[in-house]
Amino acid sequence: MNTAKVAAAKAAMNHIVDGTIIGVGTGSTANCLIDAIGESRLQLKGAVASSEATAQRLTAIGVDVMDLNSTGTLDLYIDGADEANRDLQLIKGGGGALTREKIVANASREFICIADESKQVDVLGSFPLPVEVIPMARSFVARELLKLGCDPEYREGGVTDNGNIILDCHGFEITSPEELEQAVNNIPGVVTVGLFALRPADRLIIGKDDGSTEIL
Ligand code: A5P
Repeated sequence: MNTAKVAAAKAAMNHIVDGTIIGVGTGSTANCLIDAIGESRLQLKGAVASSEATAQRLTAIGVDVMDLNSTGTLDLYIDGADEANRDLQLIKGGGGALTREKIVANASREFICIADESKQVDVLGSFPLPVEVIPMARSFVARELLKLGCDPEYREGGVTDNGNIILDCHGFEITSPEELEQAVNNIPGVVTVGLFALRPADRLIIGKDDGSTEIL
């Protein structure tokens, strides 16, 4: 059990309204949230999952997993991150769920990011930036990413829930996150870049090793 991740997840519970449908993210911190929901008295109307793994966990605790096409705009999405800067812009996709995460984040009025303090950075990019790519475009997209100044690496065995592959981009120092997000998204064959700059988090709940939390 990671005290900091559990603390961030439990703090996020205060923002969930009983009887509502929420979006739930993917990864170890999101799993702490699912555990906390399971241990609580909260009766969600349902949840939209950002991955098959999250859908399975939600089902296991008795939450009705719903199709985003039937829910309309969600009030709240809660998810982890691999890096977060002071503007609450994020790198996500370490777990490969970036596309569905970005869809649900954009389909939600509020996006709360939960993370331990190791995820806070001044400049995004030390964590390799994941890019989900249509398989037949892999080499072309890699060459285009090289031109943008990074070193893309094919993620072995990293087939996404959507049947695509992931290129992890090393060496980016992301000083203009919105511009880079648009530039990568514009490469034909790119499905999604794991940079959440145009739709950053609205709040960031940082969990600490002593069990305390800070909200930014
Ligand atoms: C999943 O694809 C990711 O975006 C996760 O949200 C991110 O990797 C954070 O994961 P942890 O909570 O496991 O650190």
